Amino acid sequence: MSLSQPHGGRLINRYQPDVDLSLINKQVELDTIALSDLELIANGAYSPLEGFMGADDYVQVIQHMRLASGEVWSIPITLPVSDEAASTIREGDLVKLTYEGTVYGLIEVQEKYRPDKTIEAKQVYRTTDVAHPGVKKLFERPPVYLGGPVTLVKRPPKKRFAEFYLDPEQTRARFRELGWRTVVGFQTRNPVHRAHEYIQKCALETVDGLFLNPLVGETKADDIPADVRMESYQVLLENYYPEQRVFLAVFPAAMRYAGPREAIFHAMVRKNYGCTHFIVGRDHAGVGNYYGTYDAQRIFDHFTPAELGITPLFFEHSFYCYQCGGMASTKTCPHSEEHRLILSGTKVRQMLSQGEVPPPEFSRKEVVEVLIKGMKQLSYSS
Ligand code: ADX
Repeated sequence: MSLSQPHGGRLINRYQPDVDLSLINKQVELDTIALSDLELIANGAYSPLEGFMGADDYVQVIQHMRLASGEVWSIPITLPVSDEAASTIREGDLVKLTYEGTVYGLIEVQEKYRPDKTIEAKQVYRTTDVAHPGVKKLFERPPVYLGGPVTLVKRPPKKRFAEFYLDPEQTRARFRELGWRTVVGFQTRNPVHRAHEYIQKCALETVDGLFLNPLVGETKADDIPADVRMESYQVLLENYYPEQRVFLAVFPAAMRYAGPREAIFHAMVRKNYGCTHFIVGRDHAGVGNYYGTYDAQRIFDHFTPAELGITPLFFEHSFYCYQCGGMASTKTCPHSEEHRLILSGTKVRQMLSQGEVPPPEFSRKEVVEVLIKGMKQLSYSS
């Protein structure tokens, strides 16, 4: 067995820092989501995508979770621009892509189209409720999509933790150096608590290495900020994981909160980073009560193992059980609910912001210390 083949067969590389932009006079401003997508297309994390989706890919993805080429793909990767900006752009134009005025890339506009966002919301998020953070963002973003291949000319600056930003080429090289032939990817937008640690370590019992790959792009305002989380991951790994069995690098994408569809997307991207396996637990990438607890696992049934090219590892809802005296799940623990410690993310955030300490059965003490310190600093600075 060897590391996974990239999705679509090869890693895309659209980074070209020496492109001459002097003759290009049109430009559009990206939002933070589009900027992170630009970088992830260019560094191959979104292989086989070479640009923002045109209408064919977009419709196929929305309707069938596939690109027009037939490859599995579940989340539209689009470049929304305002009517005003769109009116200045023609199909065939080369357009600079800026963020806060700095040029980061360019797009060769092959298509300009107006999506039906209500259909997009229904298909991708299974709801049109704007209380859903992904749907809210979808409707807030501008109304016209530009499609076409992109080139990244400048890497977006990393304010902190720069050493944890690795391209798929680099993570693959690292896995090889470590001698891993099987690697399980773990997505998270939260600190790693005992339940996460439990499922990671259950997986690690059967594969060579764990790729801890926290998402650090845009998340909703009440999620714990990435800077605080990054410190918490490091203390956890130092204290509780064997160094040669785990590797930490960030996934700089925005969170969509699209539950099942996002689980497929997360798996495809981790395949590009070289993972052979991917953990999907309870309500993966979910928010509120929009998705059933195991919907994000069931959705994998739509595809054959060969189409996916990465093996999902499914985990039941896990918790600490006082009767079992350890971590367990509904699959392994016979005791009733009153013996189980289940804390919601919301509850933990509330506790942390009030300086309360989540119990060791829920979170490692080193992690809690970092989180309390980080949340205090945030409340002083806001
Ligand atoms: S996510 O939005 O990034 O998926 P989160 O960081 O909460 O959210 O979860 C990371 C991974 O751990 C997901 O695969 C999720 O399903 C899984 N997970 C989180 N909590 C539990 C739990 N208590 N039991 C089982 N799996 C869990």
